Amino acid sequence: MSARGVEDARARGKTVLVLHGPNLNLLGRREPDVYGPLTLDQINERLHALAAELGVELEIFQSNVEGELVDRIQEAADVTHAIVINPAAYTHTSVAIRDAIVAVGLPVIEVHLSNVHRREEFRHRSLISDVAVGQITGFGADSYLLGLRAAVRVIANSRSRSLKTRRPLKARRPA
Ligand code: DQA
Repeated sequence: MSARGVEDARARGKTVLVLHGPNLNLLGRREPDVYGPLTLDQINERLHALAAELGVELEIFQSNVEGELVDRIQEAADVTHAIVINPAAYTHTSVAIRDAIVAVGLPVIEVHLSNVHRREEFRHRSLISDVAVGQITGFGADSYLLGLRAAVRVIANSRSRSLKTRRPLKARRPA
């Protein structure tokens, strides 16, 4: 096993939640020149294959409804170790998703299929980026796979603390 593989092994058995925001259920037929040819099911299959390879449990959820994404983030608090999220259009508008991320204090990787910084100006602003560990944008479906690898690395490198005793992000920051 490579040195990196040994490092990542510390994440074995841990759970990663992948969240897909609005309109991503249309992938495959939605602006394929921008978002690529793969359907959401095909992307999810690749994610499951990579999760099996890396030895992590994977949960995947898509919704077109902001509140359902907020609910799913809240529910993840005690059972998930990291979140990979493509908030889609809510990236640029959702204080509610941002607040939920801060409230649960889980490490979040923000991903986008397209390079949002090469597109319309309103897509350059993300309400999520500064409460995420990082952003992966512009690699098509590979953004999700890179996001999952990043989540595994973050879990492997975090001190093993019980999810129940984890404090939200805000409480850990100096005033
Ligand atoms: C997107 C980029 C967003 O600006 C857009 O609203 C989406 C998808 C992406 O994956 O490239 O729906 O998040």
